[in-house]
Amino acid sequence: MIYRLTIDCFHLTAEAEQALQQFRQDRLLGKSRIALRPGGLAAAVEHYRDNASPPLVIVEDDGDEATVLERLGHLAEVCVSGTRVLVIGHVNDIGVYRSLLSRGVSDYFVAPVTAAQLMGAVEALFSDRASAPRGRMVAFFGARGGVGSSTLAHNVAWVMAETTGEEVILLDLDLAFGTAGLAFNLEARQTVGELLGEPDRIDVQLLDRILVKYDERLKLLPSPSELRSWPPIEVEAVDKLFDLIRQLAPLVVVDLPHLWAPWVVHALEQADELVIVAQPDLPNLRDVKALLDGVGQRRGEHAPTHLVLNKQDAYKKTQLSAKDFEETLKVRPVISLPFDPIFGEVSNNGQMLGEAVKNHKLAEAIRQLALLVCRRTPAAAGRRVPAGEMLTAWLKKAKLVK
Ligand SMILES: Nc1ncnc2c1ncn2[C@@H]1O[C@H](COP(=O)(O)OP(=O)(O)O)[C@@H](O)[C@H]1O
Ligand SMILES: [Mg+2]
Repeated sequence: MIYRLTIDCFHLTAEAEQALQQFRQDRLLGKSRIALRPGGLAAAVEHYRDNASPPLVIVEDDGDEATVLERLGHLAEVCVSGTRVLVIGHVNDIGVYRSLLSRGVSDYFVAPVTAAQLMGAVEALFSDRASAPRGRMVAFFGARGGVGSSTLAHNVAWVMAETTGEEVILLDLDLAFGTAGLAFNLEARQTVGELLGEPDRIDVQLLDRILVKYDERLKLLPSPSELRSWPPIEVEAVDKLFDLIRQLAPLVVVDLPHLWAPWVVHALEQADELVIVAQPDLPNLRDVKALLDGVGQRRGEHAPTHLVLNKQDAYKKTQLSAKDFEETLKVRPVISLPFDPIFGEVSNNGQMLGEAVKNHKLAEAIRQLALLVCRRTPAAAGRRVPAGEMLTAWLKKAKLVK
């Protein structure tokens, strides 16, 4: 099994650094992104105050048991949920080993560690497909056609790749009218339409081949955007596509068409984060309400649904206000964006807003939306909680205890 993992390593000693260098060159990790940094566990805590933690973090620490536990407590506070931690320590004591494992550390190695030991730990953690990390899926859906849902999906995908440095895949599922290819000025190799028509053919290798690279981090699976009559799309085919795509990148943005079909409803329910985009008028209000009452209710409590109001003030005299939406829906829009011709201007040039105008207010609002939905906001720094409590919180986040 070839692993596609993102791993951060924080070493203290030269021996550990050497073992990690060798570990990084393992053939099985050829498709993984592995960063080596000095400073050990303490540096990791500082690093994740401002950066998202990947699925696996390897840290070295030379402190005694109490120090390591305290530092791990701080690490737990700043890591995103699902992050596993391997510790290289300098205390050779079975008691320490047990105590760390019981608190959610995936494995503890007494220095000097070898590359083979580290690889063994990776295999134990990730060889099972069910435990392989799955990319976070963010779906965009317009309450009505033309509200700007695709435009926001494209821009958010671009910003995610830009600000997190992680790989992002943008999946355009608007088979007839998709615009991802146009927006990024890219030619499709094969399209989502063909794939969904023959779900048996879909596998990771095929997907890897047909994904179109926008840059090092952002890849696209464009739609055919042809007015052919596509065979009906099966929910199972879409499910398989999602499952495989999520093995290929830590972040997946799905642009859904404004359609009411079983597979679309399924996608709306399955996404980790759902962004409903609406324009501030009465039909949009009615449809957002119906969506929140239906799909929104069926989504689990850990799968948030966000409302974005777009194109405010395009029709000043007749529009509703954000307050009207909030009062009726009991949901506050996470952002409200004004109508601004700049969207059309940059799109005519095949650019994303953040590329064309870096410090624009709208670009900043989209950046905030992107950070919110990929859950990569820096954790609350400086909050002081006793180490034991923090570890428990972390275990809960990592779903290791109830
Ligand atoms: N805030 C905005 N101000 C002005 N034009 C916008 C804004 N958001 C989107 N647009 C434009 O609206 C049009 C429709 O957007 P699109 O993203 O295709 O909508 P949807 O996917 O919801 O059907 C596009 O031409 C786009 O450039
Ligand atoms: Mg669209």
